Amino acid sequence: MIYEPSEDSFLLLEFVKKTVKEGMEVLDMGTGSGIQAEGAIENKGEVLAADINEEAVNYCKKKGINTIKSDLFENIKGKFDLIIFNPPYLPEERDYFGIKMSKEDFNYVNDIALVGGKHGWETMERFFSKAKNYLKKDGKLLVSFSSLSGDVLKIIEKYGFKHRKLAEKRIFFESLYVYECFR
Ligand SMILES: C[S@@+](CC[C@H](N)C(=O)[O-])C[C@H]1O[C@@H](n2cnc3c(N)ncnc32)[C@H](O)[C@@H]1O
Repeated sequence: MIYEPSEDSFLLLEFVKKTVKEGMEVLDMGTGSGIQAEGAIENKGEVLAADINEEAVNYCKKKGINTIKSDLFENIKGKFDLIIFNPPYLPEERDYFGIKMSKEDFNYVNDIALVGGKHGWETMERFFSKAKNYLKKDGKLLVSFSSLSGDVLKIIEKYGFKHRKLAEKRIFFESLYVYECFR
């Protein structure tokens, strides 16, 4: 299964289009359908896309996007001007109006496109802990997450990044955010 572009994808894409300039070296982490990579390619960025999901990798390759299979930075070489990541950001357990819902209530829990770990932020923490090694000196991260993801800003700061909120959008149960992070 490949993540179907949703509200979070479209919100992030707006900023990909505003940020990517001709010749920028861009990594689209967790590319899924390739929506962010395609936005960057339209702006004439030099794009490498990566995903842990082989189905997504093959799908994007067929579309002509330069894509590799990688668990986060495992197979990534080089440094980029921009790293985009719309990560899996939902927690395994969620609380709806005081009612705790968990694995038994949701069938999405094992979906690597959606669930970031027990609290939601675990995959993001792994990402932020390594991201600096793959950024050029003035490189930036463009990331999205949700009010359900836990204290992501604390994690961003823990790994030495400054951050700026670019967008916040309220949807049914949550708020979606887009942040840029830099040294
Ligand atoms: C929320 S989807 C976003 C997909 C697409 N970028 C978009 O904006 O619509 C998260 C994507 O991250 C991928 N992913 C999850 N864990 C990953 C990991 N450890 N390394 C690389 N990709 C991962 C999933 O397979 C999925 O395609």
